[in-house]
Amino acid sequence: MNKKIEKICCIGAGYVGGPTMSVIAQQCPDIQITVVDMNESRIAAWNNSNVDLLPIFEPGLADIVAEARGRNLFFSTDIEKAIDEADMIFISVNTPTKNYGKGKGKAADLKYIELCARQIAEIATSDKIVVEKSTLPVRTAAALKNILDNTGNGVNFHILSNPEFLAEGTAVQDLLHPDRVLIGGEDANAITALAAIYENWVSKDRIITTNLWSSELSKLTANAFLAQRVSSINSISELCEKTGANVDEVARAIGMDSRIGSKFLKASVGFGGSCFQKDILNLVYIARSYNLHEVADYWEQVILMNDHQKHRFADHIIQTLYNTVSGKKIACYGWAFKKDTNDTRESAAIYVADYLLNEEAELVIYDPKVPVEKIYADLDYLHTRTPEENRRLVTVVTDPMEAVKHAHAIAILTEWDEFKTYDWTLIKELMKKPAFVFDGRKLLNRRVLEGIGFKYYAIGE
Ligand code: UDX
Ligand code: ADP
Repeated sequence: MNKKIEKICCIGAGYVGGPTMSVIAQQCPDIQITVVDMNESRIAAWNNSNVDLLPIFEPGLADIVAEARGRNLFFSTDIEKAIDEADMIFISVNTPTKNYGKGKGKAADLKYIELCARQIAEIATSDKIVVEKSTLPVRTAAALKNILDNTGNGVNFHILSNPEFLAEGTAVQDLLHPDRVLIGGEDANAITALAAIYENWVSKDRIITTNLWSSELSKLTANAFLAQRVSSINSISELCEKTGANVDEVARAIGMDSRIGSKFLKASVGFGGSCFQKDILNLVYIARSYNLHEVADYWEQVILMNDHQKHRFADHIIQTLYNTVSGKKIACYGWAFKKDTNDTRESAAIYVADYLLNEEAELVIYDPKVPVEKIYADLDYLHTRTPEENRRLVTVVTDPMEAVKHAHAIAILTEWDEFKTYDWTLIKELMKKPAFVFDGRKLLNRRVLEGIGFKYYAIGE
């Protein structure tokens, strides 16, 4: 018998759980959704009466939260109550790369997932559908099921894999108009129950079902393919710089081939974000664990190329600034891993900055959405320098014009639209001469910048 879902609990109020549940709540006013998190300040921020101060910045999200919160969308730290009451539980906790023990730097750390499973097993007194929303290594559902089924309290658990394909910065649009919704599982009723939720706003032909392992692996594979495209075009960008070809022209020419397609061919200083690197490392780790070394080596190369791109961008700055940046002031425009998000996880900017700091550059950083403390925390996390040294060498400013005063060079590290609207004539006046711009996002117009008198470098030209 199919049971209609009336109450949902989502464990994890992060970049995935928060926006996903907000959109489900908006589209399904009859379902009561409680998003829980053990991080009290994060929940408090989700409950902030000023929706402009939500913990996550996503275009369109504040309006949706304002509409649904208090009606059928709730944010809470009472994890037990929400689990107990729910018919369906989404697990949206973080699965970072392990930074200790076996698989350090490669495997996904599943301790948060396991903790969730144990909590659910302990609290549940009625049957539950448990949905994996976080990106997980293939076969995680088996471990989840094992923990859940061994509680001995007679509760039935059905596990579904329903990976999230939203991209940050466009999360709301991606959730409202998904290319597809993927549901992997074994129990037909559980699959139908989850599909029925999405059918409130997604057409049936876009909701596809697979077995659990295909669903888990599809998520890793989708991210690996997307990252591979970026590394592929970035590898060509270096060749363009040597040969006189222009990477944008090459991307346009190949992208018009309908078999290749035009998306995800923008050369850049390197991909970042919480997913691409982690998921490929995961894929590589899994392949190696099955002794598939050729498969592992193949995908590992995508990451090596990405690391190379970040280093060579920083190297180019050093070489161009007469082989030394020691004591020179370099303004970094952008810190987020892409525009329209305040997320900095694995942002290329962090690594470019670290490289320049190793050469004793003095950095002044401006990002329209990333808080000052976050920028210092990202640098401190690398442990390359002491926090005191980081604060001595790095200044974070909230005024983009302040950043460029007496700067030798500007490095554009995130493609924020506002950078295009700046008064670049004034910026040049404020800088030391010759004034250099290193455009890691190919954001600005070479003709205009050179017309003003900048020495302008863009990736792949
Ligand atoms: C990605 C996937 O797109 C999404 O489906 C998945 O659910 C999570 O991971 P996200 O990391 O939010 O989403 O951002 P995405 O737009 O994919 O960009 C990732 C990185 O690649 C960014 O640093 C971006 O700047 C870079 N990128 C992307 C390029 O350098 N060039 C491109 O052409 C596209
Ligand atoms: P993602 O990008 O995958 O959404 P985030 O790190 O933004 O990742 O969010 C994951 C959230 O999950 C964090 O806010 C974290 O506090 C929360 N979390 C992790 N483990 C648990 C748990 N066992 N119970 C409740 N919340 C958890």
